[in-house]
Amino acid sequence: MPETKVTVPRLVDMKRQGQKIAALTAYDALFAQLLDEAGVDLLLVGDSLGMVIQGHDNTLPVTLDEVLYHTKAVRRGIKRALLVADMPFLSYQISPEEALRNAGRLLKEGGAEAVKLEGGKILCETVRRLVQSGIPVMGHLGLTPQSIHKFGGYGVRGKSREESHELLEDAIALEEAGAFAIVLEKIPSAVAREITQKLNVPTIGIGAGPHCDGQILVTHDALGLFERFRPKFVRRYAELATLIRDSCRRYVEDVRQGNFPSEEESY
Ligand code: KIV
Repeated sequence: MPETKVTVPRLVDMKRQGQKIAALTAYDALFAQLLDEAGVDLLLVGDSLGMVIQGHDNTLPVTLDEVLYHTKAVRRGIKRALLVADMPFLSYQISPEEALRNAGRLLKEGGAEAVKLEGGKILCETVRRLVQSGIPVMGHLGLTPQSIHKFGGYGVRGKSREESHELLEDAIALEEAGAFAIVLEKIPSAVAREITQKLNVPTIGIGAGPHCDGQILVTHDALGLFERFRPKFVRRYAELATLIRDSCRRYVEDVRQGNFPSEEESY
């Protein structure tokens, strides 16, 4: 794990050198610091915060100001990882100008080093505009949660020949427009492998198999904090929800029984 700061060019270099990229989401300074210290290369302030932090059913209600708030907090926790902020629904789809204004705020006020947006060819003009203005862009293809109502659910994308071909075309178009990396979410492993082989920029998979150049998970899924659903592709590295509930039950019991605080814990 390199000690040096992860930058956008460094991330692209990691693909050339065959080094896998480890990415996670972060929404606050404390988690950001812990994940940064653990050596995570890229921290994403994902609009998944709408579900795991705010308790919404999907990511659509998240606003730019909310992503900005969380990005500022995460910024304070990071020393080494690359900080990417998600562009929430309707903050980039209306026009390239509006996308530039909003992405600019995430860098200027939030301290992000790049932004992520969902979609393929249709967004290439916007990606070009941002990149030309000095804002690095990470694409996001496959299951794009902001299109939940179009898809009708969170199922696997890219299973048919037509859809997998379209995904490849979208990925190539995003790279040509200047995207420095592309998230591939919930697509067949073989499709992710083909896209990864065809691109010069890294692919970061989530539910896209082992052939991507890197992997990302929602931290609260990986640590067993978010229990509402458990996708097959999530590997749980801890069971923190259980640990927190059990610990707090013991605290409640101690207070009720008069076992906390003890004289030693008092002044
Ligand atoms: O919002 C998010 O956390 C994401 C990742 C799951 C890639 O888009």
